[in-house]
Amino acid sequence: MKKEVPFLILLIVMLAGCSGTNEFSSTSPNGNIELIFILDDGAPEYMVRYKDEILIDTSRLGFIFEKGQPMICNFEIDSVKVSSKRRHWKPVWGEVNRVYERYNQLKLNLKETGEPYRILQVEFKVFNDGLGFRYIFPEQEHLKDFNIISEETQFRFHDDHSAWWIKGDYEGYERLFNNTTLSQINTANTPVTIETTGGLYVSLHEANLTDYAGMTLKRSDEDPLMLECDLVPWPDGIKVKATTPFQTPWRTIQIATEPGGLIESHLILNLNEPNKIEDVSWIHPMKYTGIWWGMHTGKYSWHSGPKHGATTENAKRYIDFNAENGIPGLLIEGWNKGWDSWSKGNVFDFISPYEDFDLNEVVRYAGEKGVRLIGHHETGGNIPVYEQNIDSAFKLYASLGIHAVKTGYAGRIKPEGYHHHGQWMVNHYREVVKKAAEYKIMIDAHEPIKPTGIRRTYPNMMTREGVRGMEYNAWSEGNPPEHTCILPFTRMLAGPLDYTPGIFDLFFNEYRPNRRVYTTLANQLALYVVLYSPLQMAADLPENYEGHPAFQFIKDVPCNWDDTKVLNGSIGDYVTIARKNRDDWFIGSITDENERELSIALSFLDKETEYEAVIYADGPDADWESNPYDYTITKTTLTNADTLSIVLARGGGQAIMLTAR
Ligand code: NOJ
Ligand code: CA
Repeated sequence: MKKEVPFLILLIVMLAGCSGTNEFSSTSPNGNIELIFILDDGAPEYMVRYKDEILIDTSRLGFIFEKGQPMICNFEIDSVKVSSKRRHWKPVWGEVNRVYERYNQLKLNLKETGEPYRILQVEFKVFNDGLGFRYIFPEQEHLKDFNIISEETQFRFHDDHSAWWIKGDYEGYERLFNNTTLSQINTANTPVTIETTGGLYVSLHEANLTDYAGMTLKRSDEDPLMLECDLVPWPDGIKVKATTPFQTPWRTIQIATEPGGLIESHLILNLNEPNKIEDVSWIHPMKYTGIWWGMHTGKYSWHSGPKHGATTENAKRYIDFNAENGIPGLLIEGWNKGWDSWSKGNVFDFISPYEDFDLNEVVRYAGEKGVRLIGHHETGGNIPVYEQNIDSAFKLYASLGIHAVKTGYAGRIKPEGYHHHGQWMVNHYREVVKKAAEYKIMIDAHEPIKPTGIRRTYPNMMTREGVRGMEYNAWSEGNPPEHTCILPFTRMLAGPLDYTPGIFDLFFNEYRPNRRVYTTLANQLALYVVLYSPLQMAADLPENYEGHPAFQFIKDVPCNWDDTKVLNGSIGDYVTIARKNRDDWFIGSITDENERELSIALSFLDKETEYEAVIYADGPDADWESNPYDYTITKTTLTNADTLSIVLARGGGQAIMLTAR
């Protein structure tokens, strides 16, 4: 049910000249956030206040074009439109089953005071959990085709706050986060999350990245407390190629008084367009296993040979395991030809299986056992080859009843010079999502463009990597325990992440004796609640789950939720999240390299309901380093009057299932 309370006030401001200062402001519905638009001697700027704190000091808005005058000054205000919205909508799947969308809007029509009299609109939406703004270039006489060489948007902070960030990178987001002061950021990919000296939590990102270059941030030469927009270029150095009418993505500033408020925010989704897919009956969140981890640890290979993982026989073994344990999805990587010659520069074949993989038989067997296969398209970054073959590749899967595909863009993009996060690739990733929808296929993209809320518009865009995930533990120095205590407050604010949790054999000594997972086993369970993904992997080998009592939690935990509450959290230290599915609640709590005890009031549970609780906790001697397998499973009855004491080992975690009686 949609409830709209529209009201529109139209203000026409006619100015004789462009000298002097004009200010217009808009506040969040609760009045805490104030956005101020300033036209200072013809130059557009903005400021943001939270109550009495200046969060963003005067910062520039505008553009520099390849040819012709910049669009940063010489403006007058032609008209100003103020409106507000108050409604809610229902996502097809997600962290909650209802999203509240309440904001006040300020839209300014700016006109150049001299030749060529171009028009630029700036639109702000101010919510209780932050704000977004974007630029609109309406259809107009003096601006048709244009090339942006710089978007001049700035974010000028008022103090040298603490920030969590990864380096600005045009190709990937697979990095450990840095925590430094703001002025120590050189370049960054978004989301960048900031704890202000005044105790507010702020995250900079973007929403609805469509037909535009990804935004990275760089420290300004002018002011070390200021970050500036730095768009990912085309091979020729142009940032964005556009034709009016045209609009940019939303620049977003999420604001919360507690770190968990950022996680509960729906700002990014609210700044995207409603669902465009009418029939969503084929879109299902699901857990999945995969012929996958074995390749990363070296047990299997993607390519043909004695270790080939994707054989008919092995696939059937996985299918049996899934069927027995009620895990619906099975990803099979390395099923198609091309892996043997990838390193030699050859390309993938998206329709021909290896000789030892009988695709039709595997599909038949999966169907018989009620298991849904997840296809795999590793492109190796070769876009022309993928685009030439994508129709036949999706057609094949659709004809076999396969409704999910994991895509991959490992390696440099071909043609040379294009970047993963440039406008050309942003458009490619979107075309793949749209084409997949035509074939009723859900997408899990690896080496993707970052999430910016597109899942609202195309709910077949399920999950993606764009994160330094579990695979790094298989073949690198790994992810330290604090990594997953940072991700919920940074990368996860952008959208779901295919982190691939659930490794039970934490050392896999048989395959890689010098590598390991840097957590306790109970921590691996808690990740299913903490890290949100509608396609959520049980990443370990079936033989490591078989007969393991803790596997019951992975079998039970859903990956689609009616409600989400962040119970506590400190960025990089710990976080506890509770999520509701129908009448049941699940809680996941994780800590960094420090042990800790957290007290949790269960007052959020439904009133007058008794819950049967199964608690998967770190054992008394658990420690990620020396004793990660020590865990306990206890059962008890709990109500909303109870308080839980959660004891977490170093690198530990706790996972709780609360079933309503
Ligand atoms: C990198 C992806 O992150 C990983 O999940 C996949 O197995 C390999 N590429 C091969 O496609
Ligand atoms: Ca990867």
